[in-house]
Amino acid sequence: MSIKIVFLPGDGVGPEVAAGARQVLEAASERFSLGLSFDTHDFGGIAIDNHNDPFPQSTREACLAADAVFLGAVGGPKWDGGELRPEGGLLSLRSELGVFSNLRPVKSYGGLEHLSPLRIEKAGGIDFIIIRELTGGIYFGKRSEGTEHATDECAYSREEVARVAKIAFETAKGRNGRLTSVDKANVLATSRLWRDTVTAMHRDEYPDITLEHVLVDAMAMKLIQDPSAYDVILTENMFGDILSDEASVITGSIGLAPSASLGLGRAGLYEPIHGSAPDIAGQNKANPVGSILSAAMLLRYSVGHEESARAIEMGVLKALFEGFVTADIGGNKSCSDVAGYIAAQI
Ligand code: NAD
Ligand code: IPM
Ligand code: MN
Repeated sequence: MSIKIVFLPGDGVGPEVAAGARQVLEAASERFSLGLSFDTHDFGGIAIDNHNDPFPQSTREACLAADAVFLGAVGGPKWDGGELRPEGGLLSLRSELGVFSNLRPVKSYGGLEHLSPLRIEKAGGIDFIIIRELTGGIYFGKRSEGTEHATDECAYSREEVARVAKIAFETAKGRNGRLTSVDKANVLATSRLWRDTVTAMHRDEYPDITLEHVLVDAMAMKLIQDPSAYDVILTENMFGDILSDEASVITGSIGLAPSASLGLGRAGLYEPIHGSAPDIAGQNKANPVGSILSAAMLLRYSVGHEESARAIEMGVLKALFEGFVTADIGGNKSCSDVAGYIAAQI
């Protein structure tokens, strides 16, 4: 039986890094007889150009029927200010797939601390995962545009908080048992509901997990000051967007950071956390590692094949340790060279 993977390369560096992930997945499928099949669709800016819709019906049908969806990146200056937005397509995709929990792991590799912008003694021993709520909050509230007045509503229900908090508590249970829940409960009503929900779950269902609540502004500071202190970080949609870009660069480059977005079933959405990087697009310069590590997450969570996921991660480690890397982390290799090198290790 074949496992259907829909590829949405998207815009800017999206197609370049998605090609790397695809090459590595093809190698893994052959090596481990996984029976992966691939199908590619327009999405984002390119879909606006070709279909006048960032998320065309044909793409939607393919995604909803897939075992997993892989996204490169969407957006870019060409579509900024237009009525149709590539980013709007991405929000609809996440919402329609029901992938409310976005896992963004951040890990330093022993011996590669020099890649970090932090002092070497701060840059080691980092291993945490940000769990970002992905289908609620200010991204999905009522919006009114205007030249003199505009609004973005932030809304959360208890149930929306509880389902992503459950993923975070369970993840902490399988790791080091520590959960940091990040909110802005000193100001926002949604954050007070968030904190109340997480506190009650801790008391009633997960008393063995060590839970700490931190305000988001302080968290932005602490992530730089003491990144190795964290295990699982749970937060709402927009705070998670911002904190994960900050966290990604601690280990060297946003180009290294993968993500998996999951709902209740096995089907998931996989994407590097970076965007379309218009400043380096079309130059074969983008770091494909975040995209390739997202492919490893796809094999782990949507295919359920740990061995092939690890094989990819080992290939990435080999490239990093041998300095077979792109310019953002001090190398001189191209995007396609790095992807080919990692695929050859599988
Ligand atoms: P960005 O993540 O595209 O780029 C930020 C910086 O990081 C740039 O200097 C870029 O060159 C660098 N960078 C990003 N990915 C890299 C990689 N793989 N290798 C090396 N360097 C990399 O963020 P931005 O410039 O704020 O956004 C550009 C566009 O991307 C916008 O239209 C935005 O909406 C969109 N965006 C899309 C996604 C997504 O599709 N998931 C995510 C974020 C931003
Ligand atoms: C991300 C991106 C998206 C987000 C944008 C492009 C809608 O920044 O995946 O982190 O804000 O979620
Ligand atoms: Mn982001």
